Amino acid sequence: PYPHLAPTPPMGWNNWSYYTCGISEQVVLDNARALVRTGLAAKGYDTVTVDDCWMSRQRGPKGELVADPAKFPHGMAYVGQQLHRMGLKFGIYEDVGTLTCEKYPGSLGRFPQDAQLFAQWKVDYVKADGCNVPTVPGHSKEQTYRDLYGQMSDALRATGRPMTFSVSAPAYFQFDGAAVWHRVIGWSSELGNLWRSGRDVALQKSSPDTKWSSIVYNFRYNAELADLQRPGRWNDPDLLLAGDSGLTRQEMQSQMSLWAVMAAPLISSTDLGKLSPAARAVLGNEEVIAVDQDPLGVQGHIVQQGTDFAVLSRPLKNGDHAIALFNSGGTARTLSVTAGAAGLPKSSSYLLHDLVTGHRAHSDGDIAAPKVPAHGTVLYRVTPS
Ligand code: GLA
Repeated sequence: PYPHLAPTPPMGWNNWSYYTCGISEQVVLDNARALVRTGLAAKGYDTVTVDDCWMSRQRGPKGELVADPAKFPHGMAYVGQQLHRMGLKFGIYEDVGTLTCEKYPGSLGRFPQDAQLFAQWKVDYVKADGCNVPTVPGHSKEQTYRDLYGQMSDALRATGRPMTFSVSAPAYFQFDGAAVWHRVIGWSSELGNLWRSGRDVALQKSSPDTKWSSIVYNFRYNAELADLQRPGRWNDPDLLLAGDSGLTRQEMQSQMSLWAVMAAPLISSTDLGKLSPAARAVLGNEEVIAVDQDPLGVQGHIVQQGTDFAVLSRPLKNGDHAIALFNSGGTARTLSVTAGAAGLPKSSSYLLHDLVTGHRAHSDGDIAAPKVPAHGTVLYRVTPS
């Protein structure tokens, strides 16, 4: 398997859902500085990834990728240098097909050359998309993707530079049936450190409803994949939207808490220069981050669910469990699960620590969250006592 470069889920920032192609050196470095200034970098959000549209439409004279000179006047090595000076890591986007999703040059046919260039630029993290993968006669779609991602994975590894590898392949099989996508996740987890599940979360310009439903869709999809995750090999249900307009505080918090109980990568995509105090509190909650980054590295499982609620439970390294009670419905409701159903060890009493309000309570067996607001999630750290 690909080197074990992400012992805990990657954290950081990516421009895509907020800025799409409206990126530049300034946008990237301003957000990087804001990561540091807001204290989020110190809390673990350390990887800044430049997504699609950073390139020129044509490769250079030696076939090399070239940064768009208007967007990145000092080139990409410079961006990396500035990020490293801030103590951050440098992530970059490419595609294993002929073109990226936005039709910039893809890596197909040039994997070693592109990987060498990324290593030379001191890239630390590569997100490889799977748009514009050609049909190869005599090969299934899955064989072709597997081959191309394999070539990219080998090329990155051959550089000798540790670069965390984010594989988008599973996202391209999500409508091909569970058997197929499970198989694709199987080989993706051998070729990289994390892989995309579900759809893209909605872009900044989308309606509030679209944003929220994209979060719920990816939550539901990703929650079903818990058995395919292993420590250091992560399901990635896409970017955190906290900070964007149109989401309520409850909704931002739900995404963060659900991603944490699922051991998902925590990758913010917003304008960090304008982060509201509420969004900053959501992204910066250290107790919630600690659940996400728990060294046991186990994705929470759904232990109970209905049409408008779900309860997930995740064992933590110190013997505690994280339990998330998610009300996806439109009115407040009380949610609860028994200690047994949540997989807790038998005990005469449990300490429930609400990681968002800080409230602590004791229970003799029921893990209950009274009046969870519409679209809200209560995340407990539960300690048998
Ligand atoms: C795909 C990916 C997104 C983003 C865009 C860029 O849609 O899933 O995360 O990288 O391409 O074009």
